[in-house]
Amino acid sequence: MTAQTPIYITTPLYYVNDELHLGHATTTVYADTLARFWRACGRPVLFLTGSDEHGQKIHKAASAAGTTPKDFADRIVQKFFELWDALDIQYDVFIRTTDDFHKRAVQALFTRLRDGGHIRKDRYNALYCVECETNYTEKDLLDGKCPIHKTAPQQVSEENYFFTLSSFTQPLLDHIAANPDCIVPEPRRNEIVGKLKEGLNDISVTRTTFDWGVPLPWEPSHVVWVWWDALVNYISGLGWPDSPALPTDAIQGRSRHAHEVAGNAFAHWWPSAVHLVGKDILWHHTVVWWSQLLGAGEKPPRQVFAHGWWQVEGDKMSKTLGNVIKPQEVAAKYGRDALRYHILREGPAKGDADWRQAAFVTRFNADLANGLGNLLNRSLNMLGKYFDGKVPPETAFDQPALEKARLSLIDRVNGLYPRLVAAITNFDLDAACEAVIELVRETNAFVNNAAPFKLAKDPARAKDLQASMHALCQVDFVLCHALRAFLPDAANRIATQLAVPLDGVLADRLRWNALGAGHQTGKAEPLFMRLEAEGNTDA
Ligand code: MSP
Repeated sequence: MTAQTPIYITTPLYYVNDELHLGHATTTVYADTLARFWRACGRPVLFLTGSDEHGQKIHKAASAAGTTPKDFADRIVQKFFELWDALDIQYDVFIRTTDDFHKRAVQALFTRLRDGGHIRKDRYNALYCVECETNYTEKDLLDGKCPIHKTAPQQVSEENYFFTLSSFTQPLLDHIAANPDCIVPEPRRNEIVGKLKEGLNDISVTRTTFDWGVPLPWEPSHVVWVWWDALVNYISGLGWPDSPALPTDAIQGRSRHAHEVAGNAFAHWWPSAVHLVGKDILWHHTVVWWSQLLGAGEKPPRQVFAHGWWQVEGDKMSKTLGNVIKPQEVAAKYGRDALRYHILREGPAKGDADWRQAAFVTRFNADLANGLGNLLNRSLNMLGKYFDGKVPPETAFDQPALEKARLSLIDRVNGLYPRLVAAITNFDLDAACEAVIELVRETNAFVNNAAPFKLAKDPARAKDLQASMHALCQVDFVLCHALRAFLPDAANRIATQLAVPLDGVLADRLRWNALGAGHQTGKAEPLFMRLEAEGNTDA
């Protein structure tokens, strides 16, 4: 990977049967953070998200609401837009599976698979969970119920089209062996390899009992199984199979950034596709999706990253328990950076996680209010008092212990960029944030030790005062750039207070002396108010 290698980042397309919750916001915040980080590094990034609108689940929800599936989807998808706007999610393409270009791509894929001999008609007898839109065998069930939703599956029996999934067992195993990081983290890859080694069964990929889906081109009484339809979005969103350009014209108003690429968009972005998904849909995003691609003569994506699930205060998050965390409510109450920070620090990137309100408050206060906010505020206030807000020229401390602390800060600042790149390459968002917060901690300790407020009272210590304030200016500048991906609102506010533009590539910005002497900073404003344990601000 070089700074110029493109990266194509996707979230799952969320079902429009209900409003989105913390779980959906988590995958999307992870994706947005990666996208912002790599953009700030100067890498070409394409970030796609969207909505999954076909299938029985949506059909059922629309009937219950007394409307048509399309009207229902139109209504819910507006809520998606509102939520992503409220959280300032900077996706490039928003795809709906009811988009015409997408439906055509699904049909084209199906036709290719039929022509390649991968499709056959058969009788389908299955146990189907509508909530998962997935069928199960008796041995998958727990006490006769779906292992995820704990509800009894439907017994389905119909004549429909099957895909020869079983013939992809070995090609998939070979692909994974040749590309060890194609499924991360490692335990998730092992899980998929384990299942593949048990062998695969052919799967039914059309339905005739309802019509809310993409019709088969040669037999429209069949609609495509919703997963088969939805997964294709990752390539239809690039113009596959025959459009050289991204379908942004077709989705005017929903795509954010125009991307000019020389040549074919699919050829440009697909080799660097990274799908972010939750662990529950990893099977679909590897075994099912990759077989579709291999069968159609295309390559699997470069990588699939699967995260775990949130619980809430030790319980499953569920409507029945009434403990569903609504991201827009958290953002409205504490700020979207606070929500984002908690997801990045405490979220299920590596394994399952637990949303605890007490931990939310503790972390917010320690890292953001007392840590980052306090550092910024006191350094800018002191700079205003002692240097009229102007960055002083660099100088060393006379006192050796303080000079040692300054040199250590310089090392930490200059080492930050490679640390962030390594953490983000590994999808370790917690480690990336920790690297930034360690700089905050070390600098706050440096302020306490150097005590510029005392130095200012002693004219003989003028050089040490200058050394400390120069150092603080460098750290503040580096912090606002380092936080661009993780706390975008705070990064902007810090940049305004420092009176610097938030532009340029991180490799140039995360360096000691990237902020020149003589620069006039702006007015210091508090960044974060401490929260009381109940969640009230003490402002
Ligand atoms: N429509 C399919 C995806 C098709 S992609 C081609 C779907 N949609 S969904 O609306 O159910 O969203 C699923 C996503 O939300 C998954 O990534 C899932 O892991 C995530 N979450 C749902 N509940 C969650 C938690 N409690 N915690 C974390 N994420 C969870 O599946």
